[in-house]
Parts: sequence; structure tokens; C-alpha cells
Amino acid sequence: MELKSEQEIERLRTSGRLARELLNAVCKEVKAGVSTEDLDNCAAKWIKQHDAKPAFLNYRGYPKTICVSINEEVVHGIPGPRKILNGDIVSIDVGLFYEGWCGDTAKTIPVGAISESAQKLLRVSEQALDEAIKAARMGNRIGDISYAMQSVSESQGFHVVRNYGGHGIGRAMHEDPHVPCLGQPGTGALIRDGLVLALEVMVNCGTPHVVHKPDGWTVLTEDRSLSAHYEHMVAILDGKTELLTKAA
Ligand code: MF3
Ligand code: CO
Ligand code: CO
Repeated sequence: MELKSEQEIERLRTSGRLARELLNAVCKEVKAGVSTEDLDNCAAKWIKQHDAKPAFLNYRGYPKTICVSINEEVVHGIPGPRKILNGDIVSIDVGLFYEGWCGDTAKTIPVGAISESAQKLLRVSEQALDEAIKAARMGNRIGDISYAMQSVSESQGFHVVRNYGGHGIGRAMHEDPHVPCLGQPGTGALIRDGLVLALEVMVNCGTPHVVHKPDGWTVLTEDRSLSAHYEHMVAILDGKTELLTKAA
């Protein structure tokens, strides 16, 4: 895994902040009646206006600018004509490059009134990511981060997704190390100065197992129960953990 200099982290601070501002701009547009394609268009325009480049478009053939995953969709939902409805939970994942450096961040938001179990899912998933960020500290290991996500989620009766996770990030969107949503404390690579990670938690209500839609991208829960996704970037600098994906 590649460790970044202070100067490089400064660049990732900018791309992380821009990614978060983009995410917030897209989330503002989310309401009943809006199509997921409308959200993609909004993101594409925002990225252009800010002299950035989309990170997902054409990534391994991905056809759109952002991912929008509704309800039982876990991640990698492809924007299209589907309209958002009241009661939906909508996971938005955005990525961009600014001056060659990547920003990648995601969150799940409620539309109108959502069920009590959906509310709990969002609360617990966000808390799982918060605890993961706390565990991403100097001297800990990657397994400590993964364990934090898993233990928070499972203690509330939810399940973390097995086959997807977070990652190192820099000039490329996906760098080593892989950061699973489940793991054992005290295992994996050491967390040290210069490490920059995109931490991601994917939490399902009913089963940890997932399947793919015929579109080849969209990941669904096997039992079609609800799923949430949160992602933040962090950097370790001078022994301290800094959140890079915060809006100005
Ligand atoms: N943003 C995703 C991640 O968090 C990757 C999306 S790749 C795409 O790592 F091609 F599906 F867009
Ligand atoms: Co992402
Ligand atoms: Co990511």
C-alpha cells in the first residue's frame, strides 16, 4: 500500500471536500418524482462546473457519473428512468478527480416518511461508519476498522455485506489495502502516517448475502431486504486521523 506525503494529502483534502460538496448537492435534489437519471445529470453538471472529472464514468465500463441504489439495492445502482418514491431510502455514491486526485463518498438518505426499521438501519449504519473512523487510528490495524463496522451492525441485528468494502485512495480510486466490512481485531495491515482510506460500510436488514441484477452492476440483497451504504475518506497525518470528506 502506498503512503502519501503531507503535500499529497493536501490534494486529497481538496478532492475529498469537493466529493462531499457534490454529494450534498445531489442529495438536495432527492425527492419523490425525481428520476435517478435526473440526479446523474445534476452530478455531471456540477462536476463540469467545478473543473473536476467523473471518477465512475467508464470505470470498467460503468455507464454513468454516480451510483444511485434504492431500498434493496446495495451499491452500484445505475441511474435511469426509475423515479424515487416517498418512503424510499436512497444510497448515493459519488466520485470525482480534481487535478488528478480522487474523491469518493456516499450516504443513504430517507425520502419522506420511512418505516421505523429503515430509520434504525440508517442510524446504525452511520454509527458503524463513525466507529470505523474512530478505529482508523495510528497503531491500529485494518481488522480493527472492519471489526468496528461488523460489531456495531450485528449488535443491532443487521448484517454487513461480505464481498464489498472500502479501499485505499489517491491518484487511483481503488488502491490497496482492501478494507472489508467484517474482520477480526488486531489483524491486517498497520495503520500509519500517510495512509489514506475510503472507508465504506454496507449494511443489510435481512441477510448478508447479495445477488446481481442482469445489468451486471446493481448489487441487491438476496432476500430483497433494505440496505444502506455510507462512505467517508480519512487520512492519517502526524499520528492523527483526519476526515477528508467534509464540506467547507
Ligand atoms: N464508488 C464506488 C466505491 O465506493 C465505486 C463505484 S465504481 C462504479 O468504491 F463503476 F460502479 F461506479
Ligand atoms: Co464510493
Ligand atoms: Co469507494
